[in-house]
Amino acid sequence: MIVLSVESSCDETSVSISKDGKTILSNIVLSQIDVHKTYGGVVPEIASREHVKGITLVFEEALQAANITKDEVDLIAVTKGPGLIGSLLIGVNAAKAFALANDIPIVGVHHIAGHIYANHITKDLVFPLVCLVVSGGHTELILMKDHYDFQKLGETYDDAVGEAYDKVARTVGLGYPGGPIVDQLAHQGEATYPMPNIDQKDSYDFSFSGLKSHIINLVHNIHQRNETLNVENLCASFQEVVSDVLVRKSVKAIKEFDAKMFIVAGGVAANKGLREKIDKEIHDVEVVVPNFEYCTDNAAMIGIAGYFQYMTSKKTDDMTLNGFSRVKLME
Ligand code: KG4
Ligand code: ZN
Repeated sequence: MIVLSVESSCDETSVSISKDGKTILSNIVLSQIDVHKTYGGVVPEIASREHVKGITLVFEEALQAANITKDEVDLIAVTKGPGLIGSLLIGVNAAKAFALANDIPIVGVHHIAGHIYANHITKDLVFPLVCLVVSGGHTELILMKDHYDFQKLGETYDDAVGEAYDKVARTVGLGYPGGPIVDQLAHQGEATYPMPNIDQKDSYDFSFSGLKSHIINLVHNIHQRNETLNVENLCASFQEVVSDVLVRKSVKAIKEFDAKMFIVAGGVAANKGLREKIDKEIHDVEVVVPNFEYCTDNAAMIGIAGYFQYMTSKKTDDMTLNGFSRVKLME
């Protein structure tokens, strides 16, 4: 089965062609990072316009790179949400137009299901599995007992991990997106700054806003006292406390649910500090992290998730398919 998939929920315009929910034949990603950098974050109105400019070209490139014609496409999968509504609508409408014009069935896919299924590109998922979702908008622990069966064990009360990374980066003037820069600097420093305890004991829930405020205050006080901030050490201190709590709760869930596999999903899955901590602390279970190219937003992951969504439910959407800024994983 050949799937053409589309992702446009934030600042990446992407189209991919995949085969049988496993093999990626092409994955074209047009990133808008350079456009948004000037503003220190994603500007929704600009993001929508950039998607409009790029989407047709990316469709054509993806088909060409995979050496596939429109007639060979069996299913279309498109991110329906969550994300920026203006951005989502460009992808959803382009996908619907392509489906209608070529008489191909279409499925709307949850963005986080895509991030989760990015792992399947590396290794076939084995159940039960525990998934740590760490993206710019989500932080969750999910139990999967089968394909497309998502049970939420816990989530963040406030900020998502990626969001916290971006805010810390902004506080110390590191630019956007902050996650990769903080990660890089953390490896050049040592965790010398005291950090608060952010472990919500006995629960799978997370909270990062206290840590964020702590860092903002710390930086503010250092500046007020005319002291020098060691940015590398601050990044290392932040990264240590974050990866610590993420891995501790993951280990607890793996044990409690006797998981056979542990996977990581979302942009922060690219974090080297987190990957190192996982390597060190998680044993006796198969550990999978997506390839770097499939960690941040891309259409390949939506194609794999769309394939399994269709295979397990046998349901398709019709031309009333819409984009949703908020939508539940199990809806
Ligand atoms: O998963 P994603 O594309 O966002 C959502 O779907 O919400 O991930 C983007 C997030 C950003 O917050 C970015 O700073 C973070 O992932 N990120 C990282 C790294 N690479 C990307 N955070 C920490 N370390 C990284 N290496
Ligand atoms: Zn994402």
